[in-house]
Amino acid sequence: MLPPETALWNRVERTAREVFARYNFGEIRTPVLEATELFARGVGEETDIVSKEMYTWEDRARAASEKPQSLTLRPENTAGVVRAYIEHKLGDTGQLQKLYYIGPQFRRERPQKGRYRQFFQIGAEVIGPATSGSESPLRDAEILEMLATLLDELGIPRASAANEYKGWRLHLNSVGSSTDRPRYVAALREALLPVKDRMCPDNQRRAETNPLRVLDSKDEADQEIINGLPKIADYLDEASTAHFTAVRAALDACEVPYTVNPRLVRGLDYYTRTTFEFTVDLGLGTQNALLGGGRYDGLSEMLGGPKAPGIGFAIGEDRLILTLQALAESAAAASGEVPTEPKVDAYIAPLSPAQDAAALALARTLRSKGLSIEVGDGTFRLKKSFDAADRVARSIVILGEDEVASQTATVKTFSTGDQSKVAFSDLATTLRS
Ligand code: HAM
Repeated sequence: MLPPETALWNRVERTAREVFARYNFGEIRTPVLEATELFARGVGEETDIVSKEMYTWEDRARAASEKPQSLTLRPENTAGVVRAYIEHKLGDTGQLQKLYYIGPQFRRERPQKGRYRQFFQIGAEVIGPATSGSESPLRDAEILEMLATLLDELGIPRASAANEYKGWRLHLNSVGSSTDRPRYVAALREALLPVKDRMCPDNQRRAETNPLRVLDSKDEADQEIINGLPKIADYLDEASTAHFTAVRAALDACEVPYTVNPRLVRGLDYYTRTTFEFTVDLGLGTQNALLGGGRYDGLSEMLGGPKAPGIGFAIGEDRLILTLQALAESAAAASGEVPTEPKVDAYIAPLSPAQDAAALALARTLRSKGLSIEVGDGTFRLKKSFDAADRVARSIVILGEDEVASQTATVKTFSTGDQSKVAFSDLATTLRS
């Protein structure tokens, strides 16, 4: 990743940090390496991530008494956050923990547009003992409303009837509690028995190993069968149904639009109750899931920790950037304007090496006043300085022997062609205007 694109990454990250701070989230930084077992237990042995996509190796033992350890480049960060929650006994505070992270994740997937082996996630998790309110449907709705706000502030429109393909869309589901899910999976398994032989080989395998995965299959020919399978909503117990109803009521109150998608089960095993994905069709091709998340009320216990219900999400930052770039391109195409690269306020051109030091000193003064400055080189001929300046700066400040002696520079503004003599003491004001 290179400039100027990295400026867009920085803007996105800055906006995310600002929005998260307003919702009282603090940053957590977890290691890129974790013990393989963490993901096997947390994300699930049968998931694609753990069974096929992790970068895992045996770290050599340093001493004969030590056993080699199996390490993995993190494929996601929820398991790492919950590990940190357990390790640092954050539950003992009794407080709700609201943590966000920004960083690289690694999955050995087949790379294509929007799908990479090293990709970046911006994510957040809300977790705490049940007495801290971590189980409340309010937390689910708050997270979703925060995401809607973040996308609004980044300038990604909400999908509407008028611009159906341009905006974001929230898909929402409940996958039930840890008791609802086994009942549903059993029903799914039974319903799949008579039909699975007509399905693609991948789905035949999933029907045996992890029937929920059949639901997010994209195989065209299998869609009709999948649409006829039992729906999770019919297997939710009273408490899960009430939770889902409350989440939806809070979203309605906050005017966050959503579509209930009963097939949204997500590719990680830790989810309970609320699951969600935001999709956007612009710029992403087939990889249209911009972000995903959900509740994981049993994850801490699965990892040997205390009961600590939680909910969180991770945005695919690469996909967010692709979306923003596509939006900027279509806006430019609609207005006919050619997007320009950002330029510095001025380029200081010393006329000979004798003015190099003065040029640097002047740059220092202007930079200290907040201006962005590039400094040329006294060995350049004037024509070369002008060409270099025109490429990177809005104005050129020429500095020869006379200018240094009189503390007055010659300034030319490229957009207007205006040229004038300006005292060093007035330079900052002139360049800013
Ligand atoms: P996930 O759905 O596996 O969930 O990933 C979240 C997002 O990361 C996806 O929606 C996608 O935008 C992005 N992503 C995933 N894989 C790739 C890839 N190979 N290349 C580019 N982008 C990718 C999780 O990771 C969960 N930890 C989310 C979560 C947090 N659930 C609860 N808390």
